Formats: sequence, structure tokens, C-alpha cells
Amino acid sequence: MDKNMLDDVQNQIIEFLRSRRSVVAANLTDPGPTEDELNTIIEIGLRVPDHSRCGPWRIQIIRKEGQAKLGDLYADLFAKEDEDPTEEQIEYWRARPQTAPIVLAITCYPNEEKMHKIPLWEQILSGGAMCQNILNASHAIGYSAQWLSEWPAYHTEVKKLLGHAEDIEIYGFIFIGTATEPPKERKRIAAEDILSEWHG
Ligand SMILES: Cc1cc2nc3c(=O)[nH]c(=O)nc-3n(C[C@H](O)[C@H](O)[C@H](O)COP(=O)(O)O)c2cc1C
Repeated sequence: MDKNMLDDVQNQIIEFLRSRRSVVAANLTDPGPTEDELNTIIEIGLRVPDHSRCGPWRIQIIRKEGQAKLGDLYADLFAKEDEDPTEEQIEYWRARPQTAPIVLAITCYPNEEKMHKIPLWEQILSGGAMCQNILNASHAIGYSAQWLSEWPAYHTEVKKLLGHAEDIEIYGFIFIGTATEPPKERKRIAAEDILSEWHG
């Protein structure tokens, strides 16, 4: 690749990273990633800093059938646990995990054997980086995505339905699909608010 082409590619990558935006889950629709594209997204998710190869994360692919089961559980839990649930709210929660063609549930499975060497904190961080890689890969391929937790990520019954013990943490659900409308720019925290020089 000649120098000009390389500069062009690098500029595109930087511009992509600079402008990446989530698209809210309610605005994600078909088409979703093909099998090959999803494999690429997962592969890039796995290309994540992981101190001492702990592999402290699990990914579940949730397609329409699973999303419907999850939605039914959300609706039941909301109806049972909210103080004054309306029919509209119950149906909102039923539909909530069913908007995008693909939902990924990402969970933290700390590597107990390596915990003496790699603290839990570092293992948890690796999963956060994995989620971001998945967002970037989804956007790079041309889809849109959003990382959501909301109350279901912390609910024991949701963990149970997904096959996890109650002490397993869910990083969140990453919704992936095609945007029905482009997202508006969002105000970002300014570098000068968080940046300092340290000279010792
Ligand atoms: C761990 C985690 C959980 C999140 N959960 C939610 C959520 O429950 N609801 C929500 O509106 N945004 C949530 N967000 C924020 C969105 O993923 C995203 O940052 C927001 O839509 C703005 O998008 P952008 O900054 O990527 O453009 C969460 C982010 C993280 C890192």
C-alpha cells in the first residue's frame, strides 16, 4: 500500500473511532449481521486485552426465539414487582429485548484458578473492553448497536433463565441491527475536564 493510501486508511479509522455513536435499541431493526459477520464481530470481541489469558467472559447469542422468552419473563417480572404496573408498561418490557435482530448477553466468569495472580478487578475490566470491541466491530461492519444493562441485567430470575448462577454478573446486553434513523450527536465529556499532566 502506498503512503497516500495508508494515510487515507488511517484517517478513516480515526474518523470512525472519533464519530462512533450508539443507536438506541428501540431504533435497531432488520437486517442484522449474517453468520459470517457475527463471527467476525465475536472474533474482534475476543481480541481484547486479557491479562494472563484468563478468558473471564461468556457471550450468548440471543435471536428472535430467545428474545421472545426473555421478553415474556421481563413482562411477568415487571407485572409482579412494579408497584403500579400499567398494561402499556408491561408490554413495553415484553418488547424491550425483541427490537434488534441480534442481542448478545455478555457475562463475567472470573477465572478462579488465576485469581491469586490476576485480581478480579482486572478480569472484570477485560470484559468491558470486550463489549467495546463488539460495539466497534458491529459499527465497522455497517450495523448499529447499543450496550444496555437496565434492571434485567441485575435480576436473579433473568440470570436463571439465561442459565447463570445469581452471583454471575451480566455486563449487559448488546443489541445489534440496522438503524431506523441516524443518531444525533451526543455531548461528550471534554478532555480538559478529566486530563492532567503529572510530572512527579
Ligand atoms: C455497562 C453499561 C451499561 C449501560 N446501560 C445502559 C442502560 O441501561 N440504559 C441506557 O440508556 N444506556 C446504557 N448505557 C449507555 C449506552 O450504552 C450508550 O453509552 C448510550 O446509548 C450513548 O451512546 P454512545 O455514547 O455510545 O453514542 C450503558 C453503558 C454501559 C457501559
